[in-house]
Amino acid sequence: MSSTPRRGARVLGWGSHVPARIVTNDELARTLDTTDAWIRERTGISRRHLASEDEATSDLAVAASIAALERAAVRAEELDLVIVATVTPDSPLPSCAAHVQRRLGASNAAAFDVAAACAGFLFGLSIADAMLARGRRSRVLVVGAEILSRIVDWTDRSTAILFGDAAGAAVLGPPTEGRGAELLSLCLGSDGRSAGHLEVPAGGSREPLTAEGLAARRHTVRMKGSVVFHAAVRHMVEASRQALREAGLTVSDVDWVASHQANVRIVDAVAERLGVARDRFVVNLGDYGNTSSASIPLALDEAVARGQILPGQVVLVCALGAGFTWAGGVLRF
Ligand code: UT7
Repeated sequence: MSSTPRRGARVLGWGSHVPARIVTNDELARTLDTTDAWIRERTGISRRHLASEDEATSDLAVAASIAALERAAVRAEELDLVIVATVTPDSPLPSCAAHVQRRLGASNAAAFDVAAACAGFLFGLSIADAMLARGRRSRVLVVGAEILSRIVDWTDRSTAILFGDAAGAAVLGPPTEGRGAELLSLCLGSDGRSAGHLEVPAGGSREPLTAEGLAARRHTVRMKGSVVFHAAVRHMVEASRQALREAGLTVSDVDWVASHQANVRIVDAVAERLGVARDRFVVNLGDYGNTSSASIPLALDEAVARGQILPGQVVLVCALGAGFTWAGGVLRF
């Protein structure tokens, strides 16, 4: 069944930022029982950028936001909403968005965080889209920013090799804006029964962090890799199909796919199941690893900057994260 797509919000500018320090697989193999060959073959990752000790998530978020504001030709004071998707805020309280708002000088904006893990940027985009479509806001900043290296167990070879630190940002305007990439559809989903498959057990109200918890590294990421792998393929494919349906499009209309960058074998499987040629996928995880909520805006910002994604082209986005949470969306650039 086809449907008439509604008019969506416009992305007026993209931006991204990664920390300067690059850590190769060989460097990780000095302290972990792993090899560069295993990591490349099983994940597609060659290196990742990791934050230095004095960098916080809002530092990366602010740098990405400044780039996005410049590209959008929007001043920080014009923003009326700042949404930061992150699971690694600077501190538990206040939100990371509060720091970003202050440091950008976005004095007219409301600001809050979204916690939807690797799907967080798309969840944030969906909130922004709804606010803009209803005329409640006119300039919204959505950022995905993470310093996952702070919550990684550096003695666990099955997770430590996967993640990287980064931020990606988008500045949005209302559907009436005559420029920018239009959000044609965004579909969200969750399955809280899967919470235990990807979690940080301690440090919250259920299990406050104690000296014993710290020693047992219960403040770090635990993941059932193969369960998450299969869920990622299934939900990203389903969410993509739903998003295309809601946009009134089919896979043959898709010029590019920017799927969450977690594992190149997940990208391969999504391409095959969706029936989109593998060379239409924007892939940068070799250089950055899995940067969670930053992954999609980082990939899109780079692809636009190097002229890969061109005006008028249709781009499919999809992600799965802890929760599970997932999302699919379609943009026309
Ligand atoms: O962003 C949120 C979503 N996250 C994801 O989407 C991640 C999804 N999961 C994955 O990407 C993959 O499941 C992993 C990369 C985490 C693991 O790959 P896998 O092919 O599923 O490996 P496995 O967990 O089935 O382990 C296979 C073997 C095991 O050894 P045995 O038991 O067969 O002797 C592991 O101990 O590979 C071993 N192994 C490693 N060997 C060398 C696991 N990690 C490593 C490693 N180096 N880094």
